[in-house]
Amino acid sequence: MTFDNILVDQQDKIALITINRPTKLNALNRDTIQELHLAFSHLEKDPSTRVVLLTGSGEKAFVAGADIAEFAHFDENAAAKLARKGQETLFHFIENFPKPVIAVINGFALGGGLELAMAAHVRIAAQSAKMGLPEVSLGVIPGYGGTQRLARLTGKGKAMEMILSAGMIAADEACKWGLVNQVVSQEDLLSVSKKMAGKMARNASPALAAAIKAVNAGYRHDVDGYEVEIAAFAHCFSTPDFKEGTQAFLEKRPPKFQ
Ligand code: COA
Repeated sequence: MTFDNILVDQQDKIALITINRPTKLNALNRDTIQELHLAFSHLEKDPSTRVVLLTGSGEKAFVAGADIAEFAHFDENAAAKLARKGQETLFHFIENFPKPVIAVINGFALGGGLELAMAAHVRIAAQSAKMGLPEVSLGVIPGYGGTQRLARLTGKGKAMEMILSAGMIAADEACKWGLVNQVVSQEDLLSVSKKMAGKMARNASPALAAAIKAVNAGYRHDVDGYEVEIAAFAHCFSTPDFKEGTQAFLEKRPPKFQ
């Protein structure tokens, strides 16, 4: 797969997507969002991909936000379309992606960049990374799910503080808030992220998909999370990987998942 704004690489069942607009601090323009959608769609169907790492090129930025130059002249209608399309094609898409997605936060994760990281299932940040939702300082609010996902991760009080102050926090602070899972040195960022991805990749794919679905269901208003869990749990029993996983345990050997 080749794209203009992103790079996609795969090694040992782990795909690495790098947003590659370093001169614009990897800001998310329309084309980049579309390319990310296409790349994720392709990886979803590729059985050799078990886990996806998502990062930004260079050491300065993960993603410094939605591309301000692209939406500065928009009216209300165009703004609603932008937010809706972005949420559907990328942010909800990643949140509901059936394979684990780890955001590898190598620098500034601001606005749409932090929203992108929050849509991922897990976040690992470099010590030097800085995070914030500065939209109100531009006269707007987060529109790619930030007001919803931040409050879920950090609680309402911290989310209000970050959104209303438009301030930035350092990685260690973000970890204390529950916004990122782990903080490591810039130097170790990719290797630690790959190690975590490797741990996930060893597990049964249908079970990973079922777990993501069930956990996400708890944050939806239109379904009963416990019911979704029962159905997803039961579905696992129909998969060859379940038979292999339980059999391998009983035979005291490592499983060979499909
Ligand atoms: N949209 C469009 N372009 C962006 C961008 C964004 N969100 N963030 C950075 N860029 C561009 C800058 O315009 C600049 O381009 P130029 O060289 O063509 O002028 C380039 O990236 C480098 O950014 P610059 O501001 O010069 O770097 P800096 O080190 O001085 O500051 C930041 C870094 C992250 C603090 C600053 O770029 C910033 O505040 N960005 C916007 C963050 C934001 O508000 N995001 C939310 C958007 S809704």
